[in-house]
Amino acid sequence: MSLRRFLAWAASEGRLAKIERPVDPHLEMARSIHARQEQPVLFTDPQRSGWQVVAGVCARREHFAWALGTGAAGIVPKLIEALRRPSPPARVPEAPCQEIVDHTPNLDLLPILKHLPGDGGPYVTAAVAIIRDPDYGRNASFHRLMQTGPHSFAARIVEGRGTDTAWRKAVAAGRDLDIAICLGAPIHVLLAAAMSPAKGVDELAIANALAPTPVARCLTVDLEVPAECEAVLEGRITAQLADEGPFIDLTETWDIVRPQPVIQIDCLTHRRDPIYHALLPGGLEHKLLMGLPREPTLFQAVAEVADCRAVNITPGGMNWLHAVVQIAKHGPEDGRRAIEAAFRGHGSLKHVVVVDDDVDLYDPAAVEWAIATRFQADQDLVVLPDQPSSSLDPSAKLVPGQQALSAKMGLDATIPWTDRTGRLLTEAEREGFHKVGYESASDA
Ligand SMILES: Cc1cc2nc3c(=O)[nH]c(=O)nc-3n(C[C@H](O)[C@H](O)[C@H](O)COP(=O)(O)O)c2cc1C
Repeated sequence: MSLRRFLAWAASEGRLAKIERPVDPHLEMARSIHARQEQPVLFTDPQRSGWQVVAGVCARREHFAWALGTGAAGIVPKLIEALRRPSPPARVPEAPCQEIVDHTPNLDLLPILKHLPGDGGPYVTAAVAIIRDPDYGRNASFHRLMQTGPHSFAARIVEGRGTDTAWRKAVAAGRDLDIAICLGAPIHVLLAAAMSPAKGVDELAIANALAPTPVARCLTVDLEVPAECEAVLEGRITAQLADEGPFIDLTETWDIVRPQPVIQIDCLTHRRDPIYHALLPGGLEHKLLMGLPREPTLFQAVAEVADCRAVNITPGGMNWLHAVVQIAKHGPEDGRRAIEAAFRGHGSLKHVVVVDDDVDLYDPAAVEWAIATRFQADQDLVVLPDQPSSSLDPSAKLVPGQQALSAKMGLDATIPWTDRTGRLLTEAEREGFHKVGYESASDA
C-alpha cells in the first residue's frame, strides 16, 4: 500500500488536513505539524517546486492496522508471522519511484525540514536507507540525515548495527558503501525497516511478507528499492566524517554532536509529483515506529511463560521504556513470570505493568485502576537493580562506551490468587475483583 493510497484512505475517512497556502520547511512546517498533534497533514505548497509534504503518516496505531489490513489487535500477530516467514520481494522492470531521473540532483530543491532553531541543519527523518553487507546481504534501516551541502549529508549511524558493520567493512577495504535512501516509503516498509531481525534477515523480505513490495533496481548503485516509494536518493557512504547534530532524540531532549559518516548523493529518482514524508523527531510517529516493531518480540517472550493476550509499549514511556502486558492468568506465579519475560523480550524496557485480560491495556486509566485494586507493593512489585538498559534514559547510569545500567520495575496488577496471609483465594473471591459494570443492570 503506497503512501498515496494511505493519503486517499485518510482523506476518505476525514482524517487528512490539507494546507494549500505556502509553508516554509525551515522552522514553520514543523510547528504546524506539531500544533495538529500529528493528524495526517498534506502541505501542497512547501515552496519547493513539484513537491508536496506529508506528516502524521505513522502517528496512530490505526494507520498501521489499515496498512496491514487488520485491526489494532491484529498488528502484533501479523508482525510475528512476517518475522517467521520473510518472503523475498519480486523485481519489476518499471517503478513509479523512477518516473523522473535526475543525475545532477540538488538537495536544496527538496523540502527537507529544519525543525528547530538549535538543529545542526535541515534533517531528513523518515528515510529508509538500503545497503548491502558482503556477508549478511541487504539491510534496510532508518538513519537521520543532516544536510551539509547540496549533495551531502552527515548520517547518524548507530555503532554495531547493520549499516555501521557494512560501512566499516567497506572503509577497511578502501571503498565507499553504496546506499539507496528511500523517501515516502509505504507504511509497511517503514515498519519492516524499524525492526531488528537476526543478522542476515532481509527487512524488505519482511515488508513483502506484510504486503506486496515489488522492488526495482537502482540506476547508479547495485541495490534494489521498493518500487512504490515516492523518491530515492542514490549515493555512497564515504570514509569521511563530519559533525552531526545537535538534534532532538526520542526523549525530546537534545542529542549530542558526534563525528559521523558523510553520504554523497549522485542521483535522484522520483515520481512525477513526489510527496516527501516528514517525521517530527521525538513526535508520535517517531515513537510508534520505534516501539511497535518491538511488540512482537515482547509478546513472544511473555507467551513462552504465560498465556499472553496482548502487549502495548506505551507513548508515555516514549514507546520504548514502558509497557503494559495483558495475560489470561492460570496460576499464582503467572504475573511475576510475565514481568521477568517482558524484560527479556525488550531489553530497553524499564517499567512494566501486567494486567488481566479484562483490563483495556490501551487505556491508561484502566491500567491505573488495575494497579489501584489488584496490586500490593510489598507482594506484587519486582525490582531489579543495575540491569543493562537503554542509553536513551537520561536517569540511567551512563558511561560513554559502556552499556547503560538502570533499575527495572515490574508491577503485577493481576487479580491475586492468595490473600495477604497466603491463603489461596476461591474462584468466587477472585471473581469479586471484576468491575460490575452498569451495562448488566436492567433498565430502571
Ligand atoms: C524513526 C526512526 C529513526 C531512527 N533513526 C536512527 C538513526 O538516526 N540512526 C540509527 O542508527 N538508527 C536509527 N533508528 C533505529 C534503526 O532504524 C533500527 O534500530 C534498525 O532496526 C536497526 O537495524 P539494523 O541493526 O538491521 O541496522 C531509527 C528508528 C526509527 C524508527
